[in-house]
Amino acid sequence: SSPMAGTGSDVNAPKDLHKEINHLEELLTVDTAKLKEITSHFQNELEKGLSVEGGSIPMNPTWVMSYPTGHETGTYLALDMGGTNLRVCQVTLTEQKSEFDIIQSKYRMPEELKTGDADELWEYIADCLMQFIETHHGDPTKLEKIPLGFTFSYPATQNYVDEGILQRWTKGFDIPGVEGHNVVPMFQDALARRGVPIKLSALINDTTGTLVASAYTDPKMKIGCIFGTGCNAAYMEDCGSIPKLAHLNLPPDTPMAINCEWGAFDNEHKVLPRTAYDVVIDRDSPRPGQQSFEKMIAGLYLGEIFRLIMVDLHENSEARIFAGQDISKLRKPYTLDSSFLSAIEEDPLESLSETLALFQDKLNIGPNPAELKLIRRTCELIGTRAARLSACGVAAISRKKNYQSCHVGADGSVFNKYPHFKARGAVALREILDWPEKTDPKEEDPIEILAAEDGSGVGAALIAALTLRRVKDGNM
Ligand code: GLC
Repeated sequence: SSPMAGTGSDVNAPKDLHKEINHLEELLTVDTAKLKEITSHFQNELEKGLSVEGGSIPMNPTWVMSYPTGHETGTYLALDMGGTNLRVCQVTLTEQKSEFDIIQSKYRMPEELKTGDADELWEYIADCLMQFIETHHGDPTKLEKIPLGFTFSYPATQNYVDEGILQRWTKGFDIPGVEGHNVVPMFQDALARRGVPIKLSALINDTTGTLVASAYTDPKMKIGCIFGTGCNAAYMEDCGSIPKLAHLNLPPDTPMAINCEWGAFDNEHKVLPRTAYDVVIDRDSPRPGQQSFEKMIAGLYLGEIFRLIMVDLHENSEARIFAGQDISKLRKPYTLDSSFLSAIEEDPLESLSETLALFQDKLNIGPNPAELKLIRRTCELIGTRAARLSACGVAAISRKKNYQSCHVGADGSVFNKYPHFKARGAVALREILDWPEKTDPKEEDPIEILAAEDGSGVGAALIAALTLRRVKDGNM
């Protein structure tokens, strides 16, 4: 019997879903002209974010003021509070140029903490750090002061490298009493209550960490990107091109890494091709009106976009997919993450048997063959849209900086695990920047998006090292 046997009973003979598929293709396809339009608007928004008046993209100066040389040395702690995990690392930058050793532990970020109480968050983070130190160093109170880089990947205002005033929570976090405040003392108080003599040297965004860690091993790296739970990028600007820092009278050619926080691009809905599904995602999120670009691209939302489409096609389309089946599991918001879509896109097209198994096990739904094809196509469309839109951000920074040829370091679950994400992004970049067709398929693209070094671990350690060197040299 065929692998499809048992699905789609005869009473409910598979309907042709071409009409639905065509409609989704229209909604979710972003053509070259639109990509170009988005990119030029994006470039303007990057400029606006650096101006005194500001724009919707924060463009936060990070006080990371040089690339590493590759000769940094020493032992550092790095604490990474991402959207999904909490990670503690000890990084040793060795005498060997551009080499490092790392030991690390990962802790799950409990879901309740993300919308809970601030004290609980800091206590939990401090406990994880304590546990790491106890395992690797024995008595933490006798610990020599090891510099710590804290990767806090949310938009933060920094007047100094070791300060971070949270502008707003992103990625589904919603903890009262933190926005508008410097998170460093909150974190350090929790450590002090445990008698840990650790000194925070730098507060870091994951994108800045990615930029610096990638440049440590590859000097062609000029942009650091995260395509994960959230989506964002950092690059090196000259202080002379940052009007909002003009009052500090820094030499115009001084480098300053900018954390773009480009997730906030087009919060005013001028250019992105939003669908009714995107509108619902935003409306039902803890922060409506924010992170418009991120909500169309990042891993946190891809599964939810897919889920909303499926529910809609069950309820409102003429075809009524999954007719007669109990879709109560599918009705639960945020029930599917991007790994669900990844698995579907990896499933061989001929049978889609893995897709069927996923729907049966996870959702208690048995799609018929036509529905399986629609499911697969929907995933392709969502994944392709995300990759193509993210290329606009990379193209905009490259244009702004006039980078004709460079490497872009990228990290995050979507970049590393979502099938074809890299290839789809590269195709879009070629369309936007009008590169001629390659003559040799092995030839590098002028701007290549490549897997980055570990930004939140090694990058955080490097930034701590760069900061200490700057303080020692007395040029803050
Ligand atoms: C969100 C955060 C940003 C981070 C990104 C990737 O966009 O606001 O700071 O870099 O997610 O983790």
